[in-house]
This record gives sequence, C-alpha cells and structure tokens, in this order.
Amino acid sequence: MLINCVHPGYCQTDITSETGPSTAEEGARGPAMVVLLPDGGPSAIYFLEMQPSTF
Ligand SMILES: NC(=O)c1ccc[n+]([C@@H]2O[C@H](COP(=O)([O-])OP(=O)(O)OC[C@H]3O[C@@H](n4cnc5c(N)ncnc54)[C@H](OP(=O)(O)O)[C@@H]3O)[C@@H](O)[C@H]2O)c1
Repeated sequence: MLINCVHPGYCQTDITSETGPSTAEEGARGPAMVVLLPDGGPSAIYFLEMQPSTF
C-alpha cells in the first residue's frame, strides 16, 4: 500500500468560486498521477501538483 498526499494547486472550481491560476483539469494531473503510481512506487510523500515537496 502506498500512502501519499497531493495538493492540486489553486484551481478554478466551485470551492474557490472559479478563482485561481489553474484549471480543474490542470489540478487533476497530480491526484491522477498519485493514484496511478505503480506497485513499489514512492510512499509517505507530499506532492505539490506533480512534484515531491516539503510542507
Ligand atoms: N480547488 C482548489 O484550489 C483546491 C486546493 C487544495 C485542495 N483542494 C481540495 O480538493 C478537494 C476537491 O475540491 P474541488 O476544488 O474540486 O471542489 P468542488 O469543485 O467544490 O468539488 C467538490 C466535489 O465534492 C463533491 N461532494 C461534496 N459533498 C459531497 C458528498 N457529501 N458526497 C459526495 N460528493 C460530495 C461535489 O459533488 P457535486 O458536484 O455533486 O456537488 C464535488 O464534485 C477538496 O477536498 C478541496 O479541499 C482544492
């Protein structure tokens, strides 16, 4: 089991009243990448959009 965290960036969705620099589609790239990580992939990582990051 891989346990990771991903922040989509500031995206134009209902929750942000359609503000922010990224589209919903752009924000979905990081979560999609994380759920498709292969067996044995990285775990306990915080991703900021598509990149590993620190808090
Ligand atoms: N947008 C950003 O910049 C941003 C940044 C950081 C983190 N996030 C996080 O990303 C997540 C999604 O945010 P979003 O921007 O995509 O928000 P959003 O556009 O408001 O979408 C929220 C989604 O949750 C669904 N939902 C709400 N209550 C539900 C319930 N009780 N049962 C099932 N589905 C429910 C809504 O369904 P309906 O459409 O049917 O109402 C909608 O599809 C949130 O946890 C948010 O905190 C967003």
